[in-house]
Amino acid sequence: MKKIPIIIDCDPGVDDSYALALANSHEGFEILAITAVEGNLPASVTRRNALCIREELGINCRIGYGAEMPLKKEYTRGAASVHGVSGVGTFVFDEPKLAPDEMPAWEIIYDEAVKHKGEMILFAVGPLTNIAICLEKHPDLPQLLKRFVIMGGGTFGNVSSTNKTAEFNIWVDPHAAKYVFEKMDVWMVGLNVTHAAAVEMTDFDEMVEICGNAKNARFIRELSTFSKKNCMETGADNNVIHDAVAIACVMDETVVGFEDHYVFVEDGDCDNIGQTVIDFEKKSGKAPNCHVAMKVDQKKFVNIIKDMCRHYAQK
Ligand code: RIB
Ligand code: CA
Repeated sequence: MKKIPIIIDCDPGVDDSYALALANSHEGFEILAITAVEGNLPASVTRRNALCIREELGINCRIGYGAEMPLKKEYTRGAASVHGVSGVGTFVFDEPKLAPDEMPAWEIIYDEAVKHKGEMILFAVGPLTNIAICLEKHPDLPQLLKRFVIMGGGTFGNVSSTNKTAEFNIWVDPHAAKYVFEKMDVWMVGLNVTHAAAVEMTDFDEMVEICGNAKNARFIRELSTFSKKNCMETGADNNVIHDAVAIACVMDETVVGFEDHYVFVEDGDCDNIGQTVIDFEKKSGKAPNCHVAMKVDQKKFVNIIKDMCRHYAQK
């Protein structure tokens, strides 16, 4: 079977790490590059994590360093309470031996999209700053991609108790997100679906058990241990493996159901900045520009995650 070439733009991040591990375990994908953006942690952290995860998981791909700051907003807050200050819970990487690519993230994305014209799937599971910069420099990017899938947005928010409408990835860089939604055909896996796919604490127990003492599964085992502990001790949403749902929906098209709607991103200086406003009632008169994830088979998703653990345990 011909592998689908993919790039994952991310802000690792615990759930980003699960997503990278999941994509790497799927025989139908060839990971061409992992590109890092500011988000869960500052770019200095997400960049190093991308570099280390490549070697920890044995992925033969390019690493692209991307944006350190949103296009216009200040980078005011990360999510260390969910991911730990290192961004990967309590895991300690070996020192990376390989360097990142000389090209910045947005040039790698375009370079590979040209080389794999019409075949490459681009995943973005962090803020959309790198994607927006790539679009600004290379307006023909949309025509070169097979598909563009994001984890972000949705029908509700998770940024704060006052802003209940914005999802973190969109909120960090709403100006980039607005531009991307205006230019790209977006497959949006939002919070409404990722929360519906939440795993149970007993699932984490089973993931740890499946990983056992296998060296190649140590990263996933420690992420699973941290996810359960952090979730139970702090109430953080580590049981919602957001970014992995975006990967799983392409691995098995029956996992997530989508509806086509017009979506715009609120980027004004207002209480709901960062909201993905979904025109369910077709009041805008505008044609749909987004495939909105609306349903998920949670059991199928959990089984995919456990199969991933088996992959590394048996590697
Ligand atoms: O809102 C959840 C998203 O924000 C996930 O991608 C998580 O990794 C953070 O980037
Ligand atoms: Ca992420």
